[in-house]
Amino acid sequence: MPILQPDQIYQLLRNLTSPVVAITSERGGKRNGMIADSAVRASIVPAIPRVSVYIHKFNYSHDLIFESGRYVLHLLRDDQFELIHRLGFTSGRARDKLAGVPHRPGTLGVPVLDDCYAHFECRVANVMDTGSSTCFLGDVVAVGHGAADRPSGTVMTADHFRANMPAEWRGEYEALLRAAQAYAAERSRDIRPVVWSGLQAPG
Ligand SMILES: Cc1cc2nc3c(=O)[nH]c(=O)nc-3n(C[C@H](O)[C@H](O)[C@H](O)COP(=O)(O)O)c2cc1C
Repeated sequence: MPILQPDQIYQLLRNLTSPVVAITSERGGKRNGMIADSAVRASIVPAIPRVSVYIHKFNYSHDLIFESGRYVLHLLRDDQFELIHRLGFTSGRARDKLAGVPHRPGTLGVPVLDDCYAHFECRVANVMDTGSSTCFLGDVVAVGHGAADRPSGTVMTADHFRANMPAEWRGEYEALLRAAQAYAAERSRDIRPVVWSGLQAPG
């Protein structure tokens, strides 16, 4: 069996990266949006649609979602580079990143972006602590397409984003990735038993 170096393992694992999604959240009148590429379908039951996504604890969105138990996950079209730059390269702690991004409140009160491939409004059903991030399992309670109300275009994949982002963003993207990796390296072994507040104790 070949012995793989950590970088080779990481490159293999990159095959499991998800499409690039925009995650919006809201708590006490504060709204926010971020970008993730760690979202997966988390149910095979058509009548119980679920998604999950890993969000680092240093992100403002993490606290908004953890404390409100709600988020909206948007699949994006493969031409939505500007939105990814706006939501995924800086934090919403200091400024309202959704100002100027057309959106409306969804059924859960969380912003739904008008321009996207599709959106899934989610109520958190459970969480898993990874030390550096939380995996949020969401029950999908409402779904819609973008402004045209039908799927149009092609979904933005992580490979497409990495290969085609404007050259002047690449240095910043790689620096942010390295910083997130350093943060995660320090905390990944410190996994806490977290019981999601919405769960009933067995009995
Ligand atoms: C392509 C791409 C993928 C990303 N994937 C994730 C992810 O899966 N999980 C995560 O926590 N952050 C991810 N990020 C980083 C966040 O979007 C970024 O830290 C953002 O500024 C967080 O904003 P906030 O602090 O306003 O929540 C990604 C960023 C980009 C550009």
